[in-house]
Amino acid sequence: MKNKIDVAVLGIGRMGITHVEAAKASPYVNKIYGYEPDAERAVLRGKELEIEATSDLDSILNNPEIKLFYIASINEVHAEQTELALRAGKAVLCEKPMGESLAEAYRMVKAEEETGNFLQIGFELHYSKMYMKAKEWIDQGLIGTPVNCHCRYYSSEFHGKNTWRSNSKGTLIGEKLSHYLDLQRWFMGNEVEEVFSMNSPNVVDYFHHPDNHQINMRFENGATANLNFLMYLGETDHTDPLLEVLEKQSDDGHFLQYHIMGTKGAIETDVFRRRIRRWEFGDSPTQLTSKIVETIKYDKSEDQVWIHNTHGQNVRIAELVANGMKPENPVSDSLATMKLGFAAEISERENRIVKLLELV
Ligand SMILES: NC(=O)c1ccc[n+]([C@@H]2O[C@H](COP(=O)([O-])OP(=O)(O)OC[C@H]3O[C@@H](n4cnc5c(N)ncnc54)[C@H](O)[C@@H]3O)[C@@H](O)[C@H]2O)c1
Repeated sequence: MKNKIDVAVLGIGRMGITHVEAAKASPYVNKIYGYEPDAERAVLRGKELEIEATSDLDSILNNPEIKLFYIASINEVHAEQTELALRAGKAVLCEKPMGESLAEAYRMVKAEEETGNFLQIGFELHYSKMYMKAKEWIDQGLIGTPVNCHCRYYSSEFHGKNTWRSNSKGTLIGEKLSHYLDLQRWFMGNEVEEVFSMNSPNVVDYFHHPDNHQINMRFENGATANLNFLMYLGETDHTDPLLEVLEKQSDDGHFLQYHIMGTKGAIETDVFRRRIRRWEFGDSPTQLTSKIVETIKYDKSEDQVWIHNTHGQNVRIAELVANGMKPENPVSDSLATMKLGFAAEISERENRIVKLLELV
């Protein structure tokens, strides 16, 4: 007989759907509640998602049967809602980012420390097969010691005019790149010591924040990494039913790749080509040699589990909370990623190298 809990999803927009579906799929969840601040929208979304939805936050905060909050609301309320939920005795899985400032991130950590309640941040790439495989290869020593790591992320503009995303005062470093900075730290297995980041003038003139970032990091052990992001090169998706989206995007300006270089080999992850590869370096009388020794491909039906396993993460969180277990990804680790992102923002504003220690 499984321990079953009731759960609430705060913010039942696009990401909220994923959380609701995961809760429906979990054998550990009894009843699912939804929350939207606008009463009409709450009713509408409740009907569409076939859950009980309300605009009365207190009613779910005070409901003792609800043990877990999935927070999928807009970024500016993540810190406030996480604190409210933790202090009401709930476990929380909150979407990234941990708020829009370092102070907000610390607010979440403080509430977690003071209550001792469960808090995990939605860095679901730790649950995604592509990145788990890369990490497994690294941990097996197959590339030796990682020495540098490059992430190239080019997409089309898909946030739209006058949305909370394009109007946000928070940057895309928190909203998008926190995932990809988090992976840099995970792969390198070391902490970033200093960061220098730049951006060029915007192409997307209606964004209230930069549309591109070039973030360079040096780790404590001397390894380096960078993340090169821009949000306009990929062809705009007009959703042609005759074209398979990722296949088209594989050669139309979209890139989401890591190249992780080690002393004995290298790894490439490639979302748009549905592929992960591993190189081995060798020695010959004349030169260092390099050979691709392993390639894994997967089918489009597996995209979700390979590149963005929010579903798997969210199902797992219900299991952890129902069984009184601890977060698998400690909040201190997510805080380190957020600090790196905020340090990159400072670097861009002040045009200088920022030491992570400055952010204590
Ligand atoms: N982990 C991931 O890969 C991933 C992917 C997409 C989005 N997200 C995160 O999920 C969150 C939601 O993104 P989305 O794509 O669903 O956006 P969305 O615009 O589709 O949905 C946001 C929802 O929040 C509601 N909302 C507004 N103010 C609110 C408040 N005060 N309290 C509760 N709800 C409120 C909106 O009405 C809307 O329904 C964001 O934090 C985003 O960063 C994470």
